[in-house]
Amino acid sequence: MCGIVGIIGTKPVADAIVEALRRLEYRGYDSAGVSTLENGRLTRARAEGKLRNLEARLSEVQLGGHTGIGHTRWATHGAPTEQNAHPHMTSKVAVVHNGIIENFQELKDDLVAYGAVFSSETDTEIIAHLITRYIEEGATPIDAARRCLKELSGAFALAILIEGQENLMIVARQGSPLAIGYGDGETFVGSDAIALAPFTNTITYLEDGDWAVLTRDGAEIRDLEDRIVNRPVQKTIATTLLVDKGNHRHFMAKEIHEQPEVVSHTLSSFADIAEARIVLPDLPVDIEKLDRLTISACGTAYYAGLIAKYWFETYAGLGVEIDIASEFRYRNVPLKSGGLSLFISQSGETADTLAALRHCKASGQKTVSVVNVPQSTMARESDAILQTLAGPEIGVASTKAFTCQLVTLACLAIGLGVKKGLIDRDRERELVNALVSVPRHMSHVLQMEDQFEDICHILSKARDVLYLGRGTAFPIALEGALKLKEISYIHAEGYAAGELKHGPIALIDENVPIVVVAPGDELYEKTHSNMQEVAARGGQIILLTDQDMEQNGLELAAKITLPPTHPLVHPLIFALPVQILAYHTAVFMGTDVDQPRNLAKSVTVE
Ligand code: AGP
Repeated sequence: MCGIVGIIGTKPVADAIVEALRRLEYRGYDSAGVSTLENGRLTRARAEGKLRNLEARLSEVQLGGHTGIGHTRWATHGAPTEQNAHPHMTSKVAVVHNGIIENFQELKDDLVAYGAVFSSETDTEIIAHLITRYIEEGATPIDAARRCLKELSGAFALAILIEGQENLMIVARQGSPLAIGYGDGETFVGSDAIALAPFTNTITYLEDGDWAVLTRDGAEIRDLEDRIVNRPVQKTIATTLLVDKGNHRHFMAKEIHEQPEVVSHTLSSFADIAEARIVLPDLPVDIEKLDRLTISACGTAYYAGLIAKYWFETYAGLGVEIDIASEFRYRNVPLKSGGLSLFISQSGETADTLAALRHCKASGQKTVSVVNVPQSTMARESDAILQTLAGPEIGVASTKAFTCQLVTLACLAIGLGVKKGLIDRDRERELVNALVSVPRHMSHVLQMEDQFEDICHILSKARDVLYLGRGTAFPIALEGALKLKEISYIHAEGYAAGELKHGPIALIDENVPIVVVAPGDELYEKTHSNMQEVAARGGQIILLTDQDMEQNGLELAAKITLPPTHPLVHPLIFALPVQILAYHTAVFMGTDVDQPRNLAKSVTVE
């Protein structure tokens, strides 16, 4: 994740900005930079690599000015070079950005036609040129920024300076967190409260869609419809603690809301976003000869593997043998020497998964692990790792790690398909762009959160809850049931919808809520038939779908309609509703959401 800091201060700000950026180093980055307004003129210093390189550059150029913005960059568009480091600027505008601008190429083409001269490969630079263009066409700085924001599509956080405007900074949040800090005659902005802790603990967190005009006297916050909105001002305790709950009641809630940002960060590890191309690290197998693989994991990570099985079959033509690690390791799975075994684990310390890895290594397998902790035991013992960049996941119930596992596995499946000649360039571009749109769609779903809270009252009264799904929605049904039972303690079961008539339908009566995960894909009609069978027996149907499918008079207890998306990304989008339903039900039940009874974050014993 990139890091953003901004200060409208009363003394020179360059060094203070670097100190604040240092508190964001935990997010990972590969270049950094600062821009200030000195006597109304925009200045800049940038450097590849770590902040010490930027400090060396600053000691040479000595940026003055009491207003400035800074950035640590994790490369998405363009290589991690000084040229691509933020801030990006014209003579009139400087901008720092976290996230992905999906429609940057079309905006860039228009700007080049207008005469803009670009100096970087980044998507970010189009923001500086677009605002500059509007100012040159007569718009005020604020109007120019407002117009630019309305044209951007994607998930992003921004901080913008305008030449000659030393008491002005414009910031925006769409999918990537941003906090405003209030000082004595000074105003601050940062990717999180941790960055602002040296300056203030009086914070406002922007919500998705918010943008704000900052001056030394404070901030005017507006929503997407330009209505002035009031967001709560709170005291934060973020000090040296590198992880805090932000403006959320629980770590789980914060981690659910971090998903647009960490999914885009993880995606940018395995894809060249600008080229819409998968970029995989070297794998310890001859991919052309690869015709099958085994997958082993536990819990939520296992459900990620179940979804990946569909993708490996569909996009890479690979046969997949998958099992939960505690069973896999005691079976006698025929393992072809030199074959590929894949392991999925947030912690990288789960005893059963680690034992399965060691079993496979002893059987001559090449081992690749999808892990969130790069220095974990599994990471160290694997032949190769694919690291998810979810950041620290504190809540026992896995959320952001799950969707980061999914985006990693999707990139792996597509990448293997490309290398095996099963996916041509157009299809690769289509699939990668579908993944690029995920943060934006996730952000839209998160903005629907209040619709879910009403449904939780239905679930909270239940003794048993059934989750149904087909295809890649089936493991999401399993994951939804696991989320609900592990944090609310309500019994829940996930089932393949097609299995209903083979037993579970005996459970159905008016006391049993059934959560149906049903994207509008080629399986929807069959799932619709299952819903009719359930309704006929009085079951309370809670339908999660992504388009206004005809319900043909079906009686629903509730329905949530998500934004329509590419079939590849349905599991990533539908993961959020089942997470949110479980979270709000548990909050309603009054359980310990972050530390549910009997559970540990990492099961390091068998
Ligand atoms: C998921 O919400 C649970 N906390 C649990 O099932 C977890 O996914 C499982 O223990 C695997 O953990 P790992 O990903 O760290 O290996």
